Amino acid sequence: MNKKITTVVGARPQFIKLAPFSKAVKGHFNEIIIHTGQHYDKDMSEVFFKELGIKDPDYNLEVGSSSHSVQTARMMVGIENVFAKENPDLVVVFGDTNSTIAAALVASKMGIKIVHIEAGLRSFNRLMPEELNRVATDHLSDFLFAPTRTALANLESEGLKEKSFNTGDIMVDSVAYCLENYKQKGRIEINSEIMSSEFYMLTLHRPSTVDNPLVLNYILDELTKMGKKIIFPIHPRTKKIIKKNRSKKEDNLIYMDPLGYFDFLNLLSKAGKIITDSGGIQKEAYILKVPCVTLRTETEWIETVQSGWNCLIDPKSEAISETISNFRTPKIQEKLFGENVAKKMVEEIKNLI
Ligand code: UD1
Ligand code: UDP
Repeated sequence: MNKKITTVVGARPQFIKLAPFSKAVKGHFNEIIIHTGQHYDKDMSEVFFKELGIKDPDYNLEVGSSSHSVQTARMMVGIENVFAKENPDLVVVFGDTNSTIAAALVASKMGIKIVHIEAGLRSFNRLMPEELNRVATDHLSDFLFAPTRTALANLESEGLKEKSFNTGDIMVDSVAYCLENYKQKGRIEINSEIMSSEFYMLTLHRPSTVDNPLVLNYILDELTKMGKKIIFPIHPRTKKIIKKNRSKKEDNLIYMDPLGYFDFLNLLSKAGKIITDSGGIQKEAYILKVPCVTLRTETEWIETVQSGWNCLIDPKSEAISETISNFRTPKIQEKLFGENVAKKMVEEIKNLI
Protein backbone atom coordinates (compact mmCIF):
# COMPACT_ATOMS: atom_id res chain seq x y z
CA MET A 1 0.00 0.00 0.00
CA ASN A 2 1.51 3.33 -1.07
CA LYS A 3 1.99 6.05 1.51
CA LYS A 4 -0.29 9.06 1.38
CA ILE A 5 0.88 12.53 0.33
CA THR A 6 -1.37 15.55 0.61
CA THR A 7 -0.52 18.47 -1.68
CA VAL A 8 -1.98 21.87 -0.81
CA VAL A 9 -2.46 24.55 -3.47
CA GLY A 10 -4.62 27.63 -3.90
CA ALA A 11 -3.12 30.19 -6.28
CA ARG A 12 -2.34 30.19 -10.02
CA PRO A 13 1.43 29.64 -9.80
CA GLN A 14 0.87 26.71 -7.44
CA PHE A 15 -1.30 24.83 -9.94
CA ILE A 16 1.49 25.23 -12.47
CA LYS A 17 4.05 23.80 -10.00
CA LEU A 18 1.68 21.04 -8.86
CA ALA A 19 1.23 19.64 -12.39
CA PRO A 20 4.69 18.06 -12.84
CA PHE A 21 4.82 17.02 -9.19
CA SER A 22 1.49 15.13 -9.43
CA LYS A 23 2.66 13.37 -12.58
CA ALA A 24 5.91 12.28 -10.94
CA VAL A 25 4.16 11.08 -7.78
CA LYS A 26 1.77 8.78 -9.67
CA GLY A 27 2.45 5.12 -8.94
CA HIS A 28 4.72 5.92 -5.99
CA PHE A 29 2.37 7.60 -3.52
CA ASN A 30 -1.36 8.13 -3.14
CA GLU A 31 -1.93 11.84 -3.65
CA ILE A 32 -4.77 13.82 -2.08
CA ILE A 33 -5.06 17.37 -3.47
CA ILE A 34 -6.44 20.17 -1.32
CA HIS A 35 -7.38 23.36 -3.22
CA THR A 36 -7.90 26.12 -0.69
CA GLY A 37 -9.98 28.21 -3.12
CA GLN A 38 -7.70 31.26 -2.77
CA HIS A 39 -7.98 31.68 -6.56
CA TYR A 40 -11.37 30.72 -7.93
CA ASP A 41 -12.08 32.43 -11.29
CA LYS A 42 -12.12 29.91 -14.12
CA ASP A 43 -9.13 31.54 -15.80
CA MET A 44 -7.17 31.71 -12.53
CA SER A 45 -7.82 28.10 -11.47
CA GLU A 46 -9.84 25.56 -13.47
CA VAL A 47 -8.04 26.23 -16.76
CA PHE A 48 -4.75 25.04 -15.26
CA PHE A 49 -6.20 21.76 -13.95
CA LYS A 50 -7.71 21.08 -17.39
CA GLU A 51 -4.73 22.10 -19.54
CA LEU A 52 -2.06 20.55 -17.39
CA GLY A 53 -3.93 17.30 -16.79
CA ILE A 54 -4.10 17.64 -13.00
CA LYS A 55 -6.81 15.50 -11.40
CA ASP A 56 -9.70 17.43 -9.83
CA PRO A 57 -8.92 18.47 -6.26
CA ASP A 58 -10.11 15.92 -3.71
CA TYR A 59 -11.13 18.85 -1.51
CA ASN A 60 -11.93 22.46 -2.43
CA LEU A 61 -12.17 24.62 0.68
CA GLU A 62 -13.60 27.58 -1.28
CA VAL A 63 -12.15 30.21 1.05
CA GLY A 64 -12.26 32.97 -1.59
CA SER A 65 -10.84 36.48 -1.15
CA SER A 66 -10.59 38.45 2.09
CA SER A 67 -8.00 40.03 4.37
CA HIS A 68 -4.84 38.02 4.97
CA SER A 69 -5.89 36.98 8.48
CA VAL A 70 -9.43 35.97 7.59
CA GLN A 71 -8.32 34.15 4.46
CA THR A 72 -5.48 32.29 6.20
CA ALA A 73 -7.62 31.41 9.21
CA ARG A 74 -10.41 30.00 7.02
CA MET A 75 -7.87 27.91 5.17
CA MET A 76 -6.41 26.59 8.41
CA VAL A 77 -9.78 25.41 9.72
CA GLY A 78 -10.57 23.61 6.46
CA ILE A 79 -7.09 22.10 6.14
CA GLU A 80 -7.14 20.84 9.72
CA ASN A 81 -10.42 19.00 9.08
CA VAL A 82 -9.02 17.32 5.98
CA PHE A 83 -5.73 16.33 7.64
CA ALA A 84 -7.65 14.87 10.59
CA LYS A 85 -9.77 12.80 8.21
CA GLU A 86 -7.04 11.75 5.77
CA ASN A 87 -4.13 11.38 8.19
CA PRO A 88 -1.43 11.89 5.50
CA ASP A 89 2.15 10.64 5.85
CA LEU A 90 3.46 13.86 4.31
CA VAL A 91 2.19 17.30 3.35
CA VAL A 92 3.70 19.11 0.35
CA VAL A 93 3.43 22.90 0.05
CA PHE A 94 4.58 25.14 -2.81
CA GLY A 95 5.96 28.65 -2.96
CA ASP A 96 4.97 31.56 -0.76
CA THR A 97 1.25 32.28 -0.72
CA ASN A 98 -1.25 32.34 2.11
CA SER A 99 -2.22 28.79 1.10
CA THR A 100 1.40 27.73 1.72
CA ILE A 101 1.71 29.15 5.23
CA ALA A 102 -1.80 28.00 6.24
CA ALA A 103 -0.98 24.38 5.38
CA ALA A 104 2.48 24.55 6.96
CA LEU A 105 1.10 25.90 10.24
CA VAL A 106 -1.62 23.26 10.46
CA ALA A 107 0.61 20.33 9.49
CA SER A 108 3.41 21.30 11.88
CA LYS A 109 1.00 21.59 14.81
CA MET A 110 -0.51 18.21 13.96
CA GLY A 111 2.96 16.63 13.82
CA ILE A 112 2.71 15.82 10.10
CA LYS A 113 5.96 16.01 8.12
CA ILE A 114 6.17 18.82 5.57
CA VAL A 115 8.09 19.25 2.32
CA HIS A 116 8.44 22.85 1.13
CA ILE A 117 8.98 23.13 -2.63
CA GLU A 118 10.71 26.44 -3.55
CA ALA A 119 12.35 26.75 -0.16
CA GLY A 120 15.06 29.28 0.68
CA LEU A 121 14.02 32.10 -1.63
CA ARG A 122 14.41 35.49 0.00
CA SER A 123 13.75 39.06 -1.12
CA PHE A 124 14.82 40.34 2.33
CA ASN A 125 11.85 42.70 2.09
CA ARG A 126 9.61 42.04 5.07
CA LEU A 127 6.94 44.36 3.64
CA MET A 128 6.10 41.61 1.14
CA PRO A 129 3.52 39.13 2.48
CA GLU A 130 5.27 36.43 0.45
CA GLU A 131 8.56 37.00 2.32
CA LEU A 132 6.83 36.43 5.66
CA ASN A 133 5.11 33.32 4.31
CA ARG A 134 8.38 31.91 2.98
CA VAL A 135 10.49 32.47 6.05
CA ALA A 136 7.84 31.02 8.37
CA THR A 137 7.13 28.04 6.08
CA ASP A 138 10.82 27.15 5.79
CA HIS A 139 11.24 27.16 9.54
CA LEU A 140 8.10 25.04 10.07
CA SER A 141 8.96 22.46 7.39
CA ASP A 142 10.89 19.22 7.78
CA PHE A 143 12.37 18.98 4.28
CA LEU A 144 13.36 21.98 2.19
CA PHE A 145 13.63 21.61 -1.59
CA ALA A 146 15.73 24.56 -2.74
CA PRO A 147 15.48 25.59 -6.40
CA THR A 148 18.82 27.44 -6.72
CA ARG A 149 22.26 27.71 -5.17
CA THR A 150 21.31 31.08 -3.68
CA ALA A 151 18.24 29.58 -2.04
CA LEU A 152 20.39 26.82 -0.56
CA ALA A 153 22.87 29.36 0.78
CA ASN A 154 20.02 31.35 2.36
CA LEU A 155 18.79 28.23 4.15
CA GLU A 156 22.30 27.48 5.35
CA SER A 157 22.68 30.97 6.77
CA GLU A 158 19.41 30.50 8.71
CA GLY A 159 20.66 27.25 10.26
CA LEU A 160 18.48 25.04 8.05
CA LYS A 161 21.19 23.25 6.05
CA GLU A 162 20.53 19.80 7.55
CA LYS A 163 16.96 19.77 6.20
CA SER A 164 17.83 21.22 2.78
CA PHE A 165 18.07 19.52 -0.63
CA ASN A 166 19.31 21.04 -3.89
CA THR A 167 16.59 19.77 -6.21
CA GLY A 168 16.42 22.46 -8.90
CA ASP A 169 13.28 24.36 -9.83
CA ILE A 170 10.09 22.45 -10.58
CA MET A 171 8.94 25.12 -13.05
CA VAL A 172 11.56 23.82 -15.49
CA ASP A 173 9.33 20.76 -15.82
CA SER A 174 6.21 22.91 -16.20
CA VAL A 175 7.77 24.86 -19.07
CA ALA A 176 9.06 21.66 -20.72
CA TYR A 177 5.58 20.11 -20.59
CA CYS A 178 4.08 23.19 -22.15
CA LEU A 179 6.61 23.28 -24.99
CA GLU A 180 5.90 19.61 -25.74
CA ASN A 181 2.11 19.95 -25.68
CA TYR A 182 1.31 23.48 -26.83
CA LYS A 183 0.28 22.57 -30.37
CA GLN A 184 -2.42 20.16 -29.20
CA LYS A 185 -3.60 22.15 -26.23
CA GLY A 186 -3.26 25.90 -26.84
CA ARG A 187 -6.69 27.54 -26.55
CA ILE A 188 -6.74 30.83 -28.39
CA GLU A 189 -5.73 31.63 -31.90
CA ILE A 190 -3.62 34.68 -31.27
CA ASN A 191 -4.71 37.45 -33.60
CA SER A 192 -2.22 37.40 -36.47
CA GLU A 193 -2.17 41.20 -36.53
CA ILE A 194 -0.91 41.22 -32.94
CA MET A 195 1.80 38.73 -33.79
CA SER A 196 2.78 40.37 -37.08
CA SER A 197 5.29 42.80 -35.60
CA GLU A 198 7.41 42.92 -32.47
CA PHE A 199 5.46 43.09 -29.23
CA TYR A 200 6.20 43.13 -25.53
CA MET A 201 4.29 41.36 -22.75
CA LEU A 202 3.21 42.86 -19.43
CA THR A 203 1.93 41.34 -16.18
CA LEU A 204 1.32 43.16 -12.89
CA HIS A 205 -0.21 41.94 -9.65
CA ARG A 206 2.00 42.75 -6.63
CA PRO A 207 0.45 45.04 -4.01
CA SER A 208 3.51 47.31 -4.34
CA THR A 209 2.88 47.92 -8.05
CA VAL A 210 -0.91 47.82 -8.32
CA ASP A 211 -2.57 48.69 -5.00
CA ASN A 212 -1.65 52.38 -5.14
CA PRO A 213 -3.50 53.76 -8.21
CA LEU A 214 -0.95 56.56 -8.55
CA VAL A 215 1.87 54.06 -8.99
CA LEU A 216 -0.16 51.84 -11.32
CA ASN A 217 -1.27 54.79 -13.47
CA TYR A 218 2.31 56.03 -13.62
CA ILE A 219 3.55 52.64 -14.85
CA LEU A 220 0.82 52.42 -17.50
CA ASP A 221 1.49 56.03 -18.62
CA GLU A 222 5.20 55.26 -18.99
CA LEU A 223 4.44 52.17 -21.05
CA THR A 224 1.99 54.09 -23.22
CA LYS A 225 4.70 56.66 -23.85
CA MET A 226 6.89 53.96 -25.39
CA GLY A 227 4.37 53.51 -28.23
CA LYS A 228 5.34 49.82 -28.42
CA LYS A 229 2.66 47.11 -28.79
CA ILE A 230 2.29 45.56 -25.32
CA ILE A 231 0.06 42.54 -24.58
CA PHE A 232 -1.31 42.75 -21.05
CA PRO A 233 -3.21 39.73 -19.63
CA ILE A 234 -4.63 41.27 -16.49
CA HIS A 235 -4.68 39.63 -13.06
CA PRO A 236 -8.12 40.15 -11.43
CA ARG A 237 -6.60 42.15 -8.57
CA THR A 238 -5.17 44.60 -11.09
CA LYS A 239 -8.27 44.62 -13.29
CA LYS A 240 -10.41 45.82 -10.39
CA ILE A 241 -8.02 48.68 -9.61
CA ILE A 242 -7.71 49.76 -13.25
CA LYS A 243 -11.49 49.69 -13.71
CA LYS A 244 -11.98 51.93 -10.70
CA ASN A 245 -9.13 54.38 -11.26
CA ARG A 246 -8.16 54.64 -14.90
CA SER A 247 -10.23 56.26 -17.59
CA LYS A 248 -7.59 56.53 -20.32
CA LYS A 249 -7.59 54.05 -23.19
CA GLU A 250 -4.18 53.39 -24.66
CA ASP A 251 -3.84 52.21 -28.26
CA ASN A 252 -0.61 50.34 -27.73
CA LEU A 253 -1.68 48.40 -24.61
CA ILE A 254 -3.66 45.29 -25.55
CA TYR A 255 -5.69 44.30 -22.48
CA MET A 256 -6.71 40.64 -22.13
CA ASP A 257 -8.25 38.37 -19.54
CA PRO A 258 -5.72 36.11 -17.81
CA LEU A 259 -4.48 33.48 -20.25
CA GLY A 260 -4.16 29.74 -19.88
CA TYR A 261 -0.64 28.43 -19.38
CA PHE A 262 -0.07 27.26 -22.94
CA ASP A 263 -1.24 30.48 -24.52
CA PHE A 264 0.67 32.59 -22.03
CA LEU A 265 3.96 30.77 -22.55
CA ASN A 266 3.48 30.71 -26.32
CA LEU A 267 3.09 34.49 -26.38
CA LEU A 268 5.93 34.98 -23.90
CA SER A 269 8.28 32.88 -26.02
CA LYS A 270 7.59 35.14 -29.02
CA ALA A 271 7.76 38.45 -27.15
CA GLY A 272 10.61 40.93 -27.65
CA LYS A 273 10.66 41.63 -23.91
CA ILE A 274 8.53 40.96 -20.83
CA ILE A 275 7.80 43.60 -18.22
CA THR A 276 6.56 42.04 -15.00
CA ASP A 277 6.42 41.97 -11.22
CA SER A 278 5.75 38.22 -11.15
CA GLY A 279 8.07 35.71 -9.52
CA GLY A 280 7.44 32.73 -11.79
CA ILE A 281 7.59 34.74 -14.99
CA GLN A 282 11.14 35.93 -14.25
CA LYS A 283 12.22 32.28 -14.38
CA GLU A 284 10.13 31.39 -17.43
CA ALA A 285 11.53 34.39 -19.31
CA TYR A 286 15.04 33.17 -18.51
CA ILE A 287 14.30 29.61 -19.61
CA LEU A 288 12.70 30.87 -22.85
CA LYS A 289 15.54 33.39 -23.37
CA VAL A 290 13.25 36.43 -23.34
CA PRO A 291 14.71 39.65 -21.87
CA CYS A 292 12.88 40.44 -18.64
CA VAL A 293 12.43 43.83 -16.96
CA THR A 294 11.18 43.35 -13.41
CA LEU A 295 9.32 46.25 -11.84
CA ARG A 296 10.68 45.64 -8.35
CA THR A 297 13.64 46.81 -6.32
CA GLU A 298 14.70 43.28 -5.36
CA THR A 299 14.24 39.71 -6.54
CA GLU A 300 14.44 36.22 -5.11
CA TRP A 301 15.83 35.04 -8.46
CA ILE A 302 19.06 36.97 -8.21
CA GLU A 303 20.89 34.64 -10.64
CA THR A 304 18.68 35.84 -13.49
CA VAL A 305 19.85 39.41 -12.82
CA GLN A 306 23.52 38.48 -12.31
CA SER A 307 23.53 36.66 -15.64
CA GLY A 308 22.26 39.78 -17.43
CA TRP A 309 18.87 38.34 -18.52
CA ASN A 310 16.73 40.18 -15.97
CA CYS A 311 16.87 43.81 -14.98
CA LEU A 312 15.30 45.35 -11.86
CA ILE A 313 13.73 48.77 -11.86
CA ASP A 314 11.86 50.63 -9.14
CA PRO A 315 8.29 51.05 -10.46
CA LYS A 316 8.33 54.60 -9.12
CA SER A 317 11.51 55.47 -10.98
CA GLU A 318 11.55 58.15 -13.66
CA ALA A 319 13.47 55.92 -16.05
CA ILE A 320 11.02 53.07 -16.70
CA SER A 321 10.54 53.52 -20.43
CA GLU A 322 14.25 54.26 -21.08
CA THR A 323 15.33 51.25 -19.04
CA ILE A 324 13.00 48.95 -20.94
CA SER A 325 14.06 50.33 -24.33
CA ASN A 326 17.77 50.17 -23.55
CA PHE A 327 17.84 46.75 -21.89
CA ARG A 328 19.99 44.24 -23.81
CA THR A 329 20.80 40.64 -22.85
CA PRO A 330 23.99 38.64 -23.44
CA LYS A 331 24.19 36.07 -26.24
CA ILE A 332 24.84 33.11 -24.00
CA GLN A 333 23.22 31.77 -20.87
CA GLU A 334 23.94 29.12 -18.26
CA LYS A 335 21.40 26.51 -17.11
CA LEU A 336 20.30 27.76 -13.70
CA PHE A 337 17.37 25.66 -12.64
CA GLY A 338 18.22 21.99 -13.32
CA GLU A 339 16.10 19.46 -15.23
CA ASN A 340 13.69 16.58 -14.53
CA VAL A 341 13.17 18.20 -11.17
CA ALA A 342 9.86 16.62 -10.10
CA LYS A 343 11.27 13.12 -10.58
CA LYS A 344 14.26 14.00 -8.38
CA MET A 345 11.93 15.35 -5.72
CA VAL A 346 9.89 12.15 -5.65
CA GLU A 347 13.09 10.06 -5.38
CA GLU A 348 14.16 12.21 -2.39
CA ILE A 349 10.76 11.81 -0.76
CA LYS A 350 10.95 8.03 -1.11
CA ASN A 351 14.08 8.15 1.06
CA LEU A 352 12.51 10.50 3.58
CA ILE A 353 9.21 8.84 4.55
C1 UD1 B 1 -1.61 35.78 -4.51
C2 UD1 B 1 -0.39 35.54 -3.62
C3 UD1 B 1 0.86 36.02 -4.37
C4 UD1 B 1 0.97 35.36 -5.74
C5 UD1 B 1 -0.33 35.58 -6.51
C6 UD1 B 1 -0.28 34.79 -7.80
C7 UD1 B 1 -0.66 35.79 -1.18
C8 UD1 B 1 -0.46 36.68 -0.03
N1 UD1 B 1 -0.47 36.35 -2.40
O1 UD1 B 1 -1.73 37.17 -4.73
O2 UD1 B 1 2.01 35.65 -3.62
O3 UD1 B 1 2.04 35.93 -6.42
O4 UD1 B 1 -1.44 35.09 -5.73
O5 UD1 B 1 -1.21 35.28 -8.72
O6 UD1 B 1 -0.99 34.65 -1.02
N2 UD1 B 1 -9.28 37.75 -7.27
C9 UD1 B 1 -10.34 37.48 -8.10
N3 UD1 B 1 -10.46 36.20 -8.56
C10 UD1 B 1 -9.61 35.21 -8.22
C11 UD1 B 1 -8.54 35.51 -7.37
C12 UD1 B 1 -8.40 36.79 -6.90
O7 UD1 B 1 -11.14 38.35 -8.44
O8 UD1 B 1 -9.79 34.05 -8.70
C13 UD1 B 1 -9.12 39.16 -6.80
C14 UD1 B 1 -9.85 39.47 -5.52
O9 UD1 B 1 -10.31 40.77 -5.58
C15 UD1 B 1 -8.76 39.38 -4.47
C16 UD1 B 1 -7.53 39.85 -5.24
O10 UD1 B 1 -7.74 39.39 -6.55
O11 UD1 B 1 -9.03 40.16 -3.35
C17 UD1 B 1 -6.25 39.33 -4.68
O12 UD1 B 1 -6.25 37.91 -4.59
P1 UD1 B 1 -5.33 37.17 -3.48
O13 UD1 B 1 -5.36 35.70 -3.71
O14 UD1 B 1 -5.67 37.66 -2.13
O15 UD1 B 1 -3.90 37.73 -3.78
P2 UD1 B 1 -3.10 37.81 -5.16
O16 UD1 B 1 -2.84 39.24 -5.45
O17 UD1 B 1 -3.79 37.00 -6.19
N1 UDP C 1 0.48 32.93 -16.17
C1 UDP C 1 -0.53 32.40 -16.96
N2 UDP C 1 -1.42 33.26 -17.55
C2 UDP C 1 -1.34 34.62 -17.39
C3 UDP C 1 -0.31 35.14 -16.57
C4 UDP C 1 0.58 34.26 -15.96
O1 UDP C 1 -0.61 31.18 -17.13
O2 UDP C 1 -2.17 35.33 -17.95
C5 UDP C 1 1.42 32.00 -15.51
C6 UDP C 1 2.88 32.29 -15.77
O3 UDP C 1 3.33 31.61 -16.92
C7 UDP C 1 3.55 31.79 -14.50
C8 UDP C 1 2.52 32.01 -13.44
O4 UDP C 1 1.27 32.18 -14.11
O5 UDP C 1 3.83 30.41 -14.57
C9 UDP C 1 2.86 33.22 -12.62
O6 UDP C 1 1.79 33.57 -11.81
P1 UDP C 1 1.72 34.96 -11.07
O7 UDP C 1 2.53 35.98 -11.79
O8 UDP C 1 0.28 35.23 -10.85
O9 UDP C 1 2.34 34.61 -9.64
P2 UDP C 1 3.83 34.61 -9.05
O10 UDP C 1 4.68 33.69 -9.86
O11 UDP C 1 4.31 36.03 -9.05
O12 UDP C 1 3.64 34.13 -7.64
